[in-house]
Amino acid sequence: MTFSNIDLSRELVQAVRDAIDIVDIASEHTRLEKKGRDHQGVCPLHKEKTPSFHVDADRGLFYCFGCGAGGDAIKLHMLTSGDDFPAAIESLALRYGIPVRERRKRRPDEPDPERALAAAAEYFVEQLGRHDVPQRYLEERKVSPELAETYGIGYAPDSWRALLETLAKRVPQRDLEAAGLVRRSKQGKLYDHFRNRLVFPIHNPSGRLVGFGGRTLGDDRAKYVNTAETERFHKSELLYGLFQARRDIRDGHRAVLVEGYFDVIGAAAAGVVGAVATMGTALTPEQSKLLGRYAEEVVVAYDGDDAGERAHQRALPILLGEGMAVYRARFPDGHDPDSLRLAEGNAAVVKAVGDAGDSVLAEIRRLTPAEARSQPQRQAQAASDLAGLLGGIPDAVLRFSYARRAAESLDLPPELLLRKIPGEQRGGGGGGPGRPGRGGPNAPPPPGPPDHGAPPPGMEPAAAPRSEVRSLEERTLEILLSGGELPPPRALPPAEVFHDPQCRNIYRVFCALYGERGADRPPDAKMVLAELGEEGATIDRMARLLVGSEGAAQGPALSDTLDRLTRRWLNERSRALSREIAEAQRDGDEPRLERLLQEKNELSHRLHRGA
Ligand code: UTP
Ligand code: MN
Repeated sequence: MTFSNIDLSRELVQAVRDAIDIVDIASEHTRLEKKGRDHQGVCPLHKEKTPSFHVDADRGLFYCFGCGAGGDAIKLHMLTSGDDFPAAIESLALRYGIPVRERRKRRPDEPDPERALAAAAEYFVEQLGRHDVPQRYLEERKVSPELAETYGIGYAPDSWRALLETLAKRVPQRDLEAAGLVRRSKQGKLYDHFRNRLVFPIHNPSGRLVGFGGRTLGDDRAKYVNTAETERFHKSELLYGLFQARRDIRDGHRAVLVEGYFDVIGAAAAGVVGAVATMGTALTPEQSKLLGRYAEEVVVAYDGDDAGERAHQRALPILLGEGMAVYRARFPDGHDPDSLRLAEGNAAVVKAVGDAGDSVLAEIRRLTPAEARSQPQRQAQAASDLAGLLGGIPDAVLRFSYARRAAESLDLPPELLLRKIPGEQRGGGGGGPGRPGRGGPNAPPPPGPPDHGAPPPGMEPAAAPRSEVRSLEERTLEILLSGGELPPPRALPPAEVFHDPQCRNIYRVFCALYGERGADRPPDAKMVLAELGEEGATIDRMARLLVGSEGAAQGPALSDTLDRLTRRWLNERSRALSREIAEAQRDGDEPRLERLLQEKNELSHRLHRGA
């Protein structure tokens, strides 16, 4: 799933590549020091004390000798922000002021809600500055002006046409209408949708403004209203506060899921980071998936009443399905995080979130009262309910571990409960078809260095030696990509001379570009990287090759390494041919034998000529 609606043209991606500066991006996450031709620092992608994170500014690459992650600036942005590729391009374009186009072209007569939203956001903030009522309200609810600014909180005046008349000069009416900022009465008269409300701007995870929520400051029947659902603003696919919290969530591996706008603000005010809210609806799978891109753990901090508990029970399987660990913070009856803060202070909220208990264990306790052990019908029902819940956990070990506890509580042998879990029957541990999760427990490990980011905490890999031995293939690529003297494109050997799939991939892309551009304009590393696009493992590999390399300056000449690779390949082919020839002789397959002998003949000519 991608959360972006922009046109990811080659030009846009290239413009982002041209604008982005890797030292800039890296410096946001770690302190870099210039050492030789590299910048070095403590790796922002895994926990370490001594710096093994290298940035090669000239080539626009990073590589960590500790955790093996590497790539270009876009990849680094993706790993540190959690953005997927389209979202990364969108947010970087936004950041560097590069204009983007909608994926679906807007017809000239179609309204453009985007412009209206931006103008309104500015207007609401300005109005907050001019009105005492909302300022006093924020003061009473202990929201500091700084926090209000961080979240862009504004105010819609108590008037039917204030926004309409102020913005009409700059923004076409139909755009205001399309954005849901202005509505039309039965008589056809336009009026402001938000009146006498505190207004919360809502962003998508890339930071694009997509809509508003407004809380009444009067006695309006609707405590909260939102802007209209548009292409960009689907409440069920957005989480309020995620844009502001995503870095904290990623760094701390934890999100705090709350029910309302003010809970997000209140949690932040209390010093609880990572709070995000659904907007008046139950948690959806889309929202859970979105959260799963940033968080490993979720603390559900819903209201401390029955409705809050039921909402927690409904959210639990959805969150577990994304592979997140789920905890439940308990609030005194009738309190939500924000009201608890006002009643008992910041520390009470911090404590409630810190003391959150494992939600699955809590569900096991809830579903296994004494009757569930003493009454067969109740026991079978509880076993089914628990098997259903546990079946949605993608990690097999975790599933088993909970199942063992559940079986204990039910006074059943674990095998009996496990047998009820879908996908667990056939020898167990499997993870049935269609089981959700991030790659799932059975996904094959990625080839080469890890494709994505940091290892889980406490599993820091052994550091690779700084001056590792490079293979012949790696050395060849290193020289090829360092801009030295090259043979003409057609004199380069075929890609088959490389065994390593990633090296072969890099070489293939290099040759294709070289062939296109011609002998006097060989491609550089950046062009090859751009062409590799999203091939994570190959990009890691390329970064490992190039960051900190001396290039063509030392070591063997290119002609030498290419020659050795070609000979290796010819020798292999020659051995394979001998085997095939023996086979053809045994089978008495004359035509095949003839073909093979001829090929072998040609091969040995090439080998003795010196390829
Ligand atoms: P609550 O009714 O729990 O309000 O709604 P709250 O967040 O505690 O608000 P305060 O503290 O009284 O200001 C929780 C969320 O449900 C949505 C809003 O997103 C709200 O933040 N909601 C609520 C609506 O969309 N419409 C409503 O009329 C009420
Ligand atoms: Mn509240």
